[in-house]
Amino acid sequence: MIKKGIILSGGLGTRMSPLTKAVNKQLLPIYDKPLIYYPLSILMLSNIKDILIIVNKDQVNQYKKILPNGKNLGIKIQYAEQDKPGGIPEAFIIGEKFINNNNVALILGDNFFYGQSLTNNLILNTKLRNGAKILLHKVPKPELFGVAKINKFKKILFIKEKPKKFVSDYAITGLYYFDKNVVKYSKQIKPSNRGELEIVDLLNIYKKNNNLTADFIGRGGAWLDTGTMDDYYKTTSFVSAIENRQGLKIACLEEIAFNKNWINKKQIKNAIKFYGNCDYSNYLKKFNK
Ligand code: DAU
Repeated sequence: MIKKGIILSGGLGTRMSPLTKAVNKQLLPIYDKPLIYYPLSILMLSNIKDILIIVNKDQVNQYKKILPNGKNLGIKIQYAEQDKPGGIPEAFIIGEKFINNNNVALILGDNFFYGQSLTNNLILNTKLRNGAKILLHKVPKPELFGVAKINKFKKILFIKEKPKKFVSDYAITGLYYFDKNVVKYSKQIKPSNRGELEIVDLLNIYKKNNNLTADFIGRGGAWLDTGTMDDYYKTTSFVSAIENRQGLKIACLEEIAFNKNWINKKQIKNAIKFYGNCDYSNYLKKFNK
């Protein structure tokens, strides 16, 4: 059972410069809320309430302005710093104390998930006891992602980071589940040619031990990576279209916490005060009747 989650929310966001020169990418808006709200909502929907957010050096205070210690959401948020982008598995080395020998989920701060049966699947995935689990999604441009080649029994044959030649159109999304060996294994891998610890190298240790499984985000689910300018705006349009059509917000953190009974009307009232006169506050008023 996974009760702890890490959001890796640093990085230089170079592909989105100059937007990311002064502000961290995950604090930029996706439609009506900061990008970080979306991966945080995914952990909350997974019933993960103990959360570590890893941010760039000297950026903790900026994050704390919108996400202090989690009490306002009925969860616990802690922060840690990453000196420079040393690779995704570094999250487990930085988070060793937080993980404290438990199983853990990791979500990349720039990943967006949305879909019909998503919540049920998320909760199922937290039941992982041993090994590692990845979530796969079919994409038109697999060369931009880590990919997994699978056989007809949906077993993973091999994985590869950003293959130049086509091997599979199943991208490895930025939501991963690991058993407690993840810290030990992350310490075993060596930086690649680009000087980073690579997530595929970590996953390959599990694969070698026959302990890597995959789940699939089907047609009803959307996974969007907000890495490039184009993808970023596509995600914003997607959220705007869904929210305006349905009158429901995606990743409204207080709504999720309220529906799970983690917070009450008093905290909703406080949130309305905190956000001030805006559309997000108006939406929260529904829960304060
Ligand atoms: O989005 C899924 C993809 O994410 C996977 O398919 C790839 O296998 C995986 O390597 C990763 O690829 P990206 O090229 O998208 O990784 P990027 O370097 O852009 O980092 C993703 C997020 O993680 C971004 O929000 C910044 C953050 N990050 C990344 C690294 C390497 C950190 O905070 N620290 C880091 O050291």
